Amino acid sequence: MDKTKILFVCLGNICRSPSAEAIFLKMIEDKGIAENFIIDSAGTSGWHNGDQADRRMQKHAVRRGYDLQSLSRKFYADSDFEDFDYIIGMDDQNIIDLRSQAKNENEYSKISKMTDYCINYSQWDEVPDPYFGGDKGFELVLDILEDACEGLINTIQK
Ligand code: 4NP
Repeated sequence: MDKTKILFVCLGNICRSPSAEAIFLKMIEDKGIAENFIIDSAGTSGWHNGDQADRRMQKHAVRRGYDLQSLSRKFYADSDFEDFDYIIGMDDQNIIDLRSQAKNENEYSKISKMTDYCINYSQWDEVPDPYFGGDKGFELVLDILEDACEGLINTIQK
């Protein structure tokens, strides 16, 4: 069976998308289906290239059992559209930035927004940027991402 390849994308790749990556990875490991997937994350900006995840995001994630291991990297349209089946942005600006780099209909069709997969948090139409906020913002990011990751797995398994 072909692996499903998923790239989670936000602005800095130090808060939301590395958390989405870690949550999704733990869920597929817990379900015993990890070998069916290749997952990664990236940022549209490249501002934090090579950096570990934001310490505040790590602190909140570790409390829920998620290990944010990935280092920040920029989204590269040339290879990422080819290498991934799902390219999932966290907010509307991420979607605008990704769509502007798609070279054809096939690449464009791979782009979706994380909240499209929400089950219980469907009132949210973006994963809000927690960078300039406080503890509540980081907890909300994790709440939305846990819900959306469950929905994403359901969508892929249909
Ligand atoms: P992220 O959060 O896109 O969820 O990784 C941000 C990280 C850094 C900045 C903004 C948002 N920044 O302005 O440096």
